[in-house]
Amino acid sequence: MLILGVESSCDETACAVVEDGRRVLSSTVASQIELHARFGGVVPELASRAHIEAINTVMGEALDRAGVRREAIDAVAVTCEPGLIGSLLVGLMAAKTAAFVLDRPLVGVNHVYAHAYAAALDAEPIEYPAAALVCSGGHTALYRCGSPLDLELLGTTIDDAAGEAFDKVAHILKLGFPGGPVIDKVARSGNPLAVKFPRPLLSGQSLDFSFSGVKTAVLYHVNGVPGGRRNQDDRRPRGIETFSPQEVADVAASFQAAVVDVLRTKLRRAARLTAARTLVIGGGVAANSALRAAASELADKLHCTLRMPPMKYCVDNAAMIAGLGYHLLGAGRLADLDLEARATVKR
Ligand code: KG4
Ligand code: ZN
Repeated sequence: MLILGVESSCDETACAVVEDGRRVLSSTVASQIELHARFGGVVPELASRAHIEAINTVMGEALDRAGVRREAIDAVAVTCEPGLIGSLLVGLMAAKTAAFVLDRPLVGVNHVYAHAYAAALDAEPIEYPAAALVCSGGHTALYRCGSPLDLELLGTTIDDAAGEAFDKVAHILKLGFPGGPVIDKVARSGNPLAVKFPRPLLSGQSLDFSFSGVKTAVLYHVNGVPGGRRNQDDRRPRGIETFSPQEVADVAASFQAAVVDVLRTKLRRAARLTAARTLVIGGGVAANSALRAAASELADKLHCTLRMPPMKYCVDNAAMIAGLGYHLLGAGRLADLDLEARATVKR
């Protein structure tokens, strides 16, 4: 069964052809990073326009690279939620057109659920039940998964997503955009114990997340507390320009350690709660080397199997959309050509 996947929910225009839900025949991604870099974040209107310019080429390339005839495609799967509404619409229209022209069924895929499935790509099937942590630029969520299609939300962020915090802290440290990869790199030469940033675990056994306080703590560490009194030993003029490269690396490493600590603790809670023998991580932040190491350690300790995708399937891609689309197709969950895009999905 060959599925053509289409993804355009944020700043990556992507198409892929995947066989039987796991074998990736092609995965083409056109990134808009350079377009948004000078703004320090994704500008929605620019993103939609760039998707329009890229989508036909990206789809053609994915089909060509897969080396299959157009008529061999069995269904078209497309991200329909959640995401930037203008961006989603571009992929949706392209996917509908392809489904109509090829006379094949269309399936609508939830982008966050697809991140929780990405570890199955080019790999063995995920063994369920599983506890899955999806952490990306727009989402941080924990799920109890009974199958690729059966996800129960256990907790989510009440403010910033984990990746968003990486991006904002990189902005404060003047390290560029996107923040995750650069903080990951710079943190390697820093001391994670140098600065004690808060670990907002929220109370008791909560599985929700909050990252905006950690980001603010970094801001105050760098620029001082607005209106706050300086302590006597603290004579350094404030601002990131006054920090040495080593100090910047220490702040990056300490921030990363705080975020990873929280993610690891919550994943452990979710694993205990669900009694799952499989842990899954996905989303752009799952590319983070410290999180990957922490998740491996946790899985060993809990005697669980850890499933984490390679970097290329952590960040946004269409192979995960086609992969999950295969299961939706198998379950008969087809969409009509009036399938709508939704920016947000209710809990
Ligand atoms: O999954 P993704 O490509 O897009 C969304 O669905 O949001 O995730 C992008 C996010 C960005 O915030 C980026 O900074 C973060 O993932 N990211 C990382 C790393 N690579 C990407 N965060 C931490 N460490 C990384 N190595
Ligand atoms: Zn994503």
